[in-house]
Amino acid sequence: MAQKLDFRYLRAIQYRILRRSQFRRPFLFAVQAGSPLVRSLLASLTLLVVATAVPVATAQKIQLSVDVSKPGPKIDRNLFGQFAEHLGHGVYEGVWVGPESKIPNTRGIRNDVVTVLKAIKVPNVRWPGGCFADEYHWRKGIGPQRTVTLNPNWGGVIEPNTFGTTEFMDFLDQIGAEAYLSVNVGSGTPQEASEWLEYLTTAQPTTLAKERDANGHPAPYKVAFLGIGNESWDCGGNMTPDYYLSQMKIYSRFVRNFNPAQQDKRQMLKIAVGPGGGEPRWTEWTEAVMKAYQSHTWSWDMNGLSMHSYTVVKWPPSYASVGFGETEYAQILKSTLEMNDLVEKHSAIMDKYDPQKKVALVVDEWGGWYAPLPGSNPGFLAQQNSLRDAVLAALNLNIFARHADRVRMANIAQMINVLQAMILTDKEKMVLTPTYYVYKMYVPFQDATFVPVSFDAGTYTHGDITLPRVDAIAAKDKAGKLWLAITNVDPNQSAEIEVTLAGMNAKSVAGETLSASKVDSVNTFDAPTAVVPKTFSAKAQDGKLTLKLAPKSVTMVAVEQ
Ligand code: AHR
Repeated sequence: MAQKLDFRYLRAIQYRILRRSQFRRPFLFAVQAGSPLVRSLLASLTLLVVATAVPVATAQKIQLSVDVSKPGPKIDRNLFGQFAEHLGHGVYEGVWVGPESKIPNTRGIRNDVVTVLKAIKVPNVRWPGGCFADEYHWRKGIGPQRTVTLNPNWGGVIEPNTFGTTEFMDFLDQIGAEAYLSVNVGSGTPQEASEWLEYLTTAQPTTLAKERDANGHPAPYKVAFLGIGNESWDCGGNMTPDYYLSQMKIYSRFVRNFNPAQQDKRQMLKIAVGPGGGEPRWTEWTEAVMKAYQSHTWSWDMNGLSMHSYTVVKWPPSYASVGFGETEYAQILKSTLEMNDLVEKHSAIMDKYDPQKKVALVVDEWGGWYAPLPGSNPGFLAQQNSLRDAVLAALNLNIFARHADRVRMANIAQMINVLQAMILTDKEKMVLTPTYYVYKMYVPFQDATFVPVSFDAGTYTHGDITLPRVDAIAAKDKAGKLWLAITNVDPNQSAEIEVTLAGMNAKSVAGETLSASKVDSVNTFDAPTAVVPKTFSAKAQDGKLTLKLAPKSVTMVAVEQ
């Protein structure tokens, strides 16, 4: 994957670093005294001080109660969405190897990757970017002759456009996911975007529909989600909120989905660009867009507001993705928990203008963003994925689930070979990351009904960092089965959890647990099973379940009655 540095992508990296440091201050100091997180940490700390007066075993036991009689909102399966940008080896090599490749494939798409993605029931994939989307011109990626262009955002490499609309829709079909297309607002036109949607979705015999037919797909495609621009405040064109709003309204009006099957309930949902942080610049953006939404007329609409938030600690990303210790483990997890405040801050603004929560908060870029792997092209954003990322993923998915009434979609960045990936590939080799396994374990939460869990998290302290020691969510699936996910953040001590269930007579639990020997344990092509889930079970006694969770672990169990 190593490539010679050249001027074009050095400039691209330089530009990206500059904008990060100017506008995306690290979240390190964002948790101010008085915030809900700090208050709960202080409360937990107090409890810990009291608890040190009693034997250690008692101090470590955590009481958790699940109230099945008070179901909450649906945990939308789209919270488990993926993001695949034309970036590094995310699409080319990760998904697309071409029909002539020796790597087993179906119409150019890797069979191994399709098999494992099907197993995590990917609900939707966001494509083609990211920053790439605002320079993407769809016509260059259709038909027998593809236009070869450049990818100036990501390494300045050649973009062969061999993976285009037909290939993306075929890939979705193979994995069973829905399309989340990001249209080019930055350097494209409303006409270009509206013709793309006509090409994709019309059932009428227009010239564009005939072209789609000639390219192998007579039937209209389904496009479930439409992203109107990407980070339009930055790489998407550096727009002010007002300028973006005027553009977004035009795209919302004219970029239509003509698929006859999507005219009523399965309508395409339009997602506007939203904030990229918690500072005033971002709250002002959310205010402006939501205020406009409040008085929108029949001629335009939006169904979602996008939010991007990476766990970086500081820009440029400098934390190692492997070969780190407990300090970096604690710092990254502290930073990632700020997602909670960010979701609440923007949700509060949305509540002012949309109390009925018609507009979803769509966290369509999130995850750990670390230093590029030594020897890799820095523009390719290649990083390893450790047990720390599994814990990070669980904590974020839990935050989204707890706000499921507003957060109805999220897309981890990115699916393969880029940032916090599910899958790493190297030519014919493929390895599944610890994050992949969290997604696999959490499959029962897709479209399940949130069930409230109350607990005193306790604390885990390392140096001057104190974090909640455990985290948990629960949900009932469509068949009525109760699922419980518990994360033990503490990398040194196991956690004994006593579970009480109101409204249910639990006899036992069974499921899987994911842990490993070190905070930076990773799966590699040579050792692909260092971090894989192991079976887990526990029985009830006197109506209570007692679970012993390994240090730094994520556990998912079904409750048996
Ligand atoms: O995921 C990598 C990049 O991060 C995306 O292209 C962009 O939207 C964000 O800044």
